[in-house]
Amino acid sequence: MRESISGKYIDEDRQGEALVAVAENATAGKKLYLESYGCQMNFSDSEIVASIMNTQGFTTTQNPEEADAIFINTCAIRDNAELRVRNRLRQFIQIKKNKPELLVGILGCMAERLKTKLLEEEKLVDIVAGPDAYRDLPKLVATADSGQKAVNVFLSREETYADISPVRLDSNGISAFITIMRGCDNMCSFCVVPYTRGRERSRSVASIIQEAHDLFAKGYREVTLLGQNVDSYKFEEVGGEVINFAALLEKVAEVNPLMRVRFSTSHPKDITEEVMQVMCRHKNICDYIHLPVQSGNSRILELMNRTYTREWYLNRIKMIRDYIPHIGISADIITGFCTETEAEHEDTLSLMEEVKYDYAYMFMYSERPGTPAAKNLKDDVPEDVKYKRLQDIISLHRHHAFESNKKDVGKTFEVLVEGESKRDSSMLKGRSSQNKMIVFKADENIQKGDYVMVSITECTSGTLIGNMVKN
Ligand code: 5AD
Ligand code: SF4
Repeated sequence: MRESISGKYIDEDRQGEALVAVAENATAGKKLYLESYGCQMNFSDSEIVASIMNTQGFTTTQNPEEADAIFINTCAIRDNAELRVRNRLRQFIQIKKNKPELLVGILGCMAERLKTKLLEEEKLVDIVAGPDAYRDLPKLVATADSGQKAVNVFLSREETYADISPVRLDSNGISAFITIMRGCDNMCSFCVVPYTRGRERSRSVASIIQEAHDLFAKGYREVTLLGQNVDSYKFEEVGGEVINFAALLEKVAEVNPLMRVRFSTSHPKDITEEVMQVMCRHKNICDYIHLPVQSGNSRILELMNRTYTREWYLNRIKMIRDYIPHIGISADIITGFCTETEAEHEDTLSLMEEVKYDYAYMFMYSERPGTPAAKNLKDDVPEDVKYKRLQDIISLHRHHAFESNKKDVGKTFEVLVEGESKRDSSMLKGRSSQNKMIVFKADENIQKGDYVMVSITECTSGTLIGNMVKN
């Protein structure tokens, strides 16, 4: 059973398989095989891990068989994410049987959640490192090399890895992530993230701007500012000036008008008009917002501790569309949360009818041990009902996405070229500002990183298809 049609977790090209890291500048030395699961933040963290391991002479390999160390950067957000990791670890154990000196490490949210369990009880790994412990990896590797248990799952209130220049992995050379904050203070009742990633903290403005400049100089033309809740970004400069997310966004947009800026994730309770005003002022800030709703029913939203109602959420959508009518909007939605009735599920469908999302990442509720929902509420919606409800929202969403794409036929969009289309190498692919994937025929001199105008001639529910038009 596929849990979601999420493009965010393992995106379009990667669905069903984990991302295997390939460093840009591999040289001889020890080999690290690094596999990542979960959210964009995890993929971004893997780039920090690759950078830290580089300083120790490790370069990445795509082949686990030739690795001296295998790291798996994990997600704990739903149970099936953890099941996949366990299966993968069992496969790595087989490699280790013929190569006892091989080190296997588990990193990220599952490491943080299970702490020493996978090392001591299940003996599946040699190294355990939580999301705030990556600076310690060289020491952990040395400890494990000497045959001792290597564990660091301390959560920090300060760590932002601000000074570490990530090694860009599996990059198209055009789009990159910049982590602007870590952790989450929101305490949605279903979510394990506040326990695996700790308290919210913001990275310094200067280090973010520097990273954006460096990326532009290397040819990147799109950055996505990442945080669990970007709207609560807050950094106090030396003089005492406090920079909020709107101010940061503006500064990043000013790095270069030719660099697109995206951000994720916004929270309905925190998104401000100031952010919308900054978006309106800068053409290079993309007209796209990811605004998770989770449920369309106010009683369920309260049980989820989302701190807004259905009406509040719809009002925020109105505010966003009042500023930018043609904006692309996506959401996360959970089906079958504790005590959800059929009528409450219908409320989610009717909210979707009102908003008509361009994208949606849809999940069945998965109880996570230790969360407020697991402690206080009964996971009482049967799996088959959760699944049926998921199918309801997936098919409604597909219908909306197709309708939204059909409306774009005949229009012209500016596209940032990402490369050749996978299915047809005579076509190029790229995205519109609204984050829609566009496949198109173009002149031969057009290259990755160029901006071109594309007129849309046809579409599927997932892709717009068209031809380049001369400016
Ligand atoms: N079960 C299902 N989905 C979850 N999410 C977070 N926790 C859970 C859970 N326990 C989803 C939410 C969130 C996204 C990142 O993952 O929709 O926005
Ligand atoms: Fe989890 Fe809610 Fe924080 Fe998102 S905002 S990471 S869903 S607690």
